[in-house]
Parts: sequence; structure tokens; C-alpha cells
Amino acid sequence: MTKEKAIELLESRGQGHVMRGFDNLSEAQQETFLAQIDNINWSDFELIGNDSANARGEFAVPPAIELPEIAARKAEFEAAGIDAIKKGEVGAVLLAGGMGTRLGFDLPKGCYNVGQTHDLYIFECLINNLLDVVKKADAFVPLYIMTSEKNDKATRDFFAEHDYFGYNSDYIKFFIQDMACAVDYNGKLLLEEEGRLATSPNGNGGWYASMIKAGLKSDIEARGLKWINVFAVDNVLQRIADPLFIGATILGNYVSGSKVVRKVEPAEKMGLLCLEDGKPSIVEYYEMSKEMSEAKADDGSLLYKFGVILNYLFSVEKLDEIVNNNLVVHVVEKKIPFVDEAGNKVSPTEPNGYKFELLVLDMIHMMDNNLAFEVDRNYEFAPIKNLHGVDSVDSARELLEKNGVVL
Ligand code: UTP
Repeated sequence: MTKEKAIELLESRGQGHVMRGFDNLSEAQQETFLAQIDNINWSDFELIGNDSANARGEFAVPPAIELPEIAARKAEFEAAGIDAIKKGEVGAVLLAGGMGTRLGFDLPKGCYNVGQTHDLYIFECLINNLLDVVKKADAFVPLYIMTSEKNDKATRDFFAEHDYFGYNSDYIKFFIQDMACAVDYNGKLLLEEEGRLATSPNGNGGWYASMIKAGLKSDIEARGLKWINVFAVDNVLQRIADPLFIGATILGNYVSGSKVVRKVEPAEKMGLLCLEDGKPSIVEYYEMSKEMSEAKADDGSLLYKFGVILNYLFSVEKLDEIVNNNLVVHVVEKKIPFVDEAGNKVSPTEPNGYKFELLVLDMIHMMDNNLAFEVDRNYEFAPIKNLHGVDSVDSARELLEKNGVVL
């Protein structure tokens, strides 16, 4: 894109301010900036103020397998899961491209040290959990780590410095997710600095498309992966490539599975797994009517009781089928650092604009079916979003200790 074309395009969209300071940039900076402008998804802007326009369908209870049945069929599920892992059919994807703003930690979230008497990093907790499975199956699970432009180098360096926490590095690959621009509340593009748009990772929903873009399809094929377990960086207790979960999904003939925990009260703030017009779907707590969140089953338990914990299993065949489908773009209010017209850097303490994000939960809706696989939150759910309070370093430390992890 040329400077003239960029000016014409931006002015036609009421975004002419973006070009201020353009002439002060070096030639290389100008080129990078023009490429950023060329990459803007203008259709996202139409969603501002309109995000809730999607009408929801008819909801029903999803197929689920609950703790007592899992306990009764443990040997059967475990054998099927271990068999798939041994055959090299299962890979895992760690979603670590997020900004972790709520934690307020300068390094990537996974570099946070939850240890108290010795070092124990979030990344290390996850690798330790995965190594339990590796030992059981006597086979390494290929692990792909999604980073963003902002934290890729720091993440790779951290793993290398810590010798991959004992994992076989031949089985670890990193890839970078896409970025998206950010706007203020009036829909005006924000600049990170003059000649650079404020951008941030585009959510956790584009992970498979980013993997393919990064050239990892050949690796998936060469290894013969049939299943990918995708999981978040922040749940230090989660079981990754869990043979029981994999076995139950395979034996049930599902193309995808979601680990779920039981809601503790009707209003708990979590995404709930449902069927929507017969297809698996995740409904956010704020999208649910009071009637729906409080509805009871015949046995008196909550009808919609299973909350997702960002640990999903997808069949690779299905992922390939949907990878080019458009995911819903979510408009999210965030704190976005920017440079103002006078050239001052501003780090807002309150949300000041919107980012555009794709979410992995929308991929679930593209699956023909999905198994809700219940896990006990005391053993498998210790997310770290904040420093203190709910879903925090404090609450995760408590749960880690309860599970016998020495801090
Ligand atoms: P969160 O929704 O907690 O977002 O991510 P975040 O950016 O990490 O944290 P906050 O909201 O700024 O505090 C859930 C999971 O999705 C990953 C995160 O790394 C985490 O594992 N994620 C999120 C990405 O990989 N990319 C993104 O663009 C966003």
C-alpha cells in the first residue's frame, strides 16, 4: 500500500488522524506501518455497539458424562486414551498468547512463580502435569505453544533457560498468533506510538488457523495427530492430554469434548455448555436468562450445570473442515495503552476502548457434537487471572497445596 492510498482509505473512514507523524518515520517504519493499515479488518468496526445483535437459538441440555460414570468406566477410558497417546495420535496446544492484564505481571503469564519455598512457575506446573501422562503412556505428547508478537521471544527464552522443564524439546513447537487493532469508544483507531497502530493478540479463537499459517500442518501430518487438546495457560491444576477424557471422547464417537465443572450456584460467572438448535454451544453467564440459569432437572439439580474451563479436545479432521469458516468477532472493552495527540504515552487504569477478539468457545459451535466431560474442580480447576481474590495466585496456591504440590 502506498502513502497516498493509505491517506485516501483512512480519510474515507474518518481515521485520518492515524497518519500524523508519518513523514518522521524511517522508510522501514513507514513500510511496516502501511502493512499494518493494509491489514485492518474494517468489517469489525461495524460490530461496535452491535455485538449483541446475534439472536440465540433454542437451548437444550448437552450430552455429558458425570463423575460416577467416569469412575465406573475408568479402566476402559484410560486404556483407550493411553492407546491413542501411544500411537502418537494426540497433541496438545497451550494457549499462551494472552496479555494477562489482570495479573499485572510484566513477563508472559506462564513465567509467574507460584512457588514459595522454591521456584515453581506456571509453565512448569503445566509441564509437570503433562509429564504425568507422558510417564504413564511412555510416550511424549507433541506440545505446541501459541504466543503472540508481544511475548514470543520472552516465552521461548524462558523455556530454553529452564531446559523445557524436563520435557523433550523435540516435542515442543512455538507459533505466533495474529494481532488485531484497537479503537477508542468513538471507534477511532488508537496508536501505540506515532507510526504504529495499537494492536493486541486477536483472542484465543484463531489458534488452529495460526498453526496452519505457521506451517505446522506438515508437522501434524507427519506425526499422524488425530486429536488436539487445547488448554489455557492459567489453570495450574488442569490435566492435559488426560487419557480418561480422550478415551471417553473416542469411545463415545464424539468429534470434540469439553472438560466441565459443576456450577456452584446458578449465578456463577462461567460459560455454560449447552446444545443450541441441536449443536454444541457455550453460553456466557450474562447471556442466560434468570429462568435458564435457575432451571432445575427432575432430580432437583441445575439443568444447565456444566461450566467450561478452557480445556477442549478436537478431532483434527474436524478442525481442518472448519479452519476457513469465519468465527464470530467479539468486541471487548479493555484498557488500551496509547499515545495521545500531543505525543504523550497514556496507560489507562480503566477500560478506554475496544479490542476485537475471536474465542475458542465459538469453535465448539462448529462441531457436529461435543462430550461434556465432568471433572472435580477441587482437583482440576485453579485458574490464575488475578493476584488476589477470586481466581487468583492466592486461591491457586491453596488448591495446589491441597493437591499435594509443595510450594
Ligand atoms: P484470558 O481470557 O484470561 O485473557 O485468556 P488474557 O489476555 O490472558 O488475560 P487478561 O484478560 O488480559 O487478564 C484465556 C486463555 O487464552 C489465551 C490466554 O493466554 C489464556 O491461556 N489467550 C487469550 C491467547 O492465547 N490469545 C489471546 O489473544 C487471548
